[in-house]
Amino acid sequence: MKTKHILAATLVACATLNSVAQKFEGLAPTPPMGWNSWNTFACDISEKTVKETADLFIKLGLKDAGYEYVVIDDGWMEMERDPETLLLVPNKVKFPNGIKSVADYVHSKGLKFGIYNCAGIYTCGGYPGTRGFEFIDAKQYAEWGVDFLKFDWCSTGGENGGYAYQQDAKASYTIMSQAIRKAGRPMIFNLCEWGNNNPWEWAAPVGHSWRVSGDIALCWDCELNYGNWASLGFWQIIRKHPDIRKYSGPDHWNDYDMLEVGRGMTAAEDRTHFSMWCMLASPLILGNDISKMNKETLELVTNKELIAVNQDKLGIQGYRFINEDGFELWVKPLSNDEWAFAFVNMTEGDLKISYDWARHYVKDGLVSREINWNNSKFSVRDCIDHKDLGDTSKKFEKTLTRHDIVVLRLAPKK
Ligand code: GLA
Repeated sequence: MKTKHILAATLVACATLNSVAQKFEGLAPTPPMGWNSWNTFACDISEKTVKETADLFIKLGLKDAGYEYVVIDDGWMEMERDPETLLLVPNKVKFPNGIKSVADYVHSKGLKFGIYNCAGIYTCGGYPGTRGFEFIDAKQYAEWGVDFLKFDWCSTGGENGGYAYQQDAKASYTIMSQAIRKAGRPMIFNLCEWGNNNPWEWAAPVGHSWRVSGDIALCWDCELNYGNWASLGFWQIIRKHPDIRKYSGPDHWNDYDMLEVGRGMTAAEDRTHFSMWCMLASPLILGNDISKMNKETLELVTNKELIAVNQDKLGIQGYRFINEDGFELWVKPLSNDEWAFAFVNMTEGDLKISYDWARHYVKDGLVSREINWNNSKFSVRDCIDHKDLGDTSKKFEKTLTRHDIVVLRLAPKK
């Protein structure tokens, strides 16, 4: 009898724990869009950069195109917490007026403000991490007006780092999610755990997106090794976990990392990188210095037709449909029975595409969508050149230069 009581009590306790509200629901019905300081500025960030970026969001039409979050990454703090209050201290030189004043400024432009910290004892840049301070940090962010928290995975243990323990990823991110919830201000919670512990399997109730890899490198397909870690060209990231599309969707996205667009790859490679992030329904977080963006980059990142593919309300991540002879074709089901098709030239030279729609039966088993060409015809629209190309009764033909892409939107014809 006694055992039964204990068992019952345990079950109640577990049920209560399981039903503890975690993330704020509904904050990211489509992939979040914004800018993050890391790829260009690393820890060299300041109030001035944030304010200028917010101004440029308006001036350059980024806000109109859907970009909303201005996020500062690592490097915003002093090296120690305040010894009395134990609160994090904004760097006095970089942020002389504190964080709330920059958040207020970003908000005054109709934008949202994001910040960075880490689940471990230090951030990756060696600043104070949040471990053991989850509730006071979340409260502090809420008071400052933070709308987005990127939460990293450095100094979380492991023998390589010389630690005698290893933090549990699910537990670490869950407690921070609960701390945000307790602090009471809705914040996008962006897990940056690098895909080490399969966050796609457990993080949907905890956060709104999770990184699927280590850091992106500024290249098409390279791997840059730095001893105990490596950064990855964007195709390496795309290929790293081929089977995770089923885990992504409204309010819980696979995050393929911040964009390297406008930072030195060729125009064709930038087009492919940006378009693939749209096909993958990844968050679109710019990582370039937007004050130095050229016309071509600006046109690319504000391309409303590509962004519409990314922001499609069904939130279905695209998949690779064909991979042969230096040619990849990616497909993404869209709302209203529409589809996006992205043809990529993976080769080092020109590639002539001649694609007979009717020869390729398309079926996306994940979402039960198919195209049977015997009884359907679609109009074809080039989302990059902004041109109507007739319909699927004729072949699609185009020569793509090295590493270029074409993204077509197909809409059913009555
Ligand atoms: C890690 C993250 C990066 C960036 C840096 C900051 O490497 O993956 O995106 O936030 O830390 O130090």
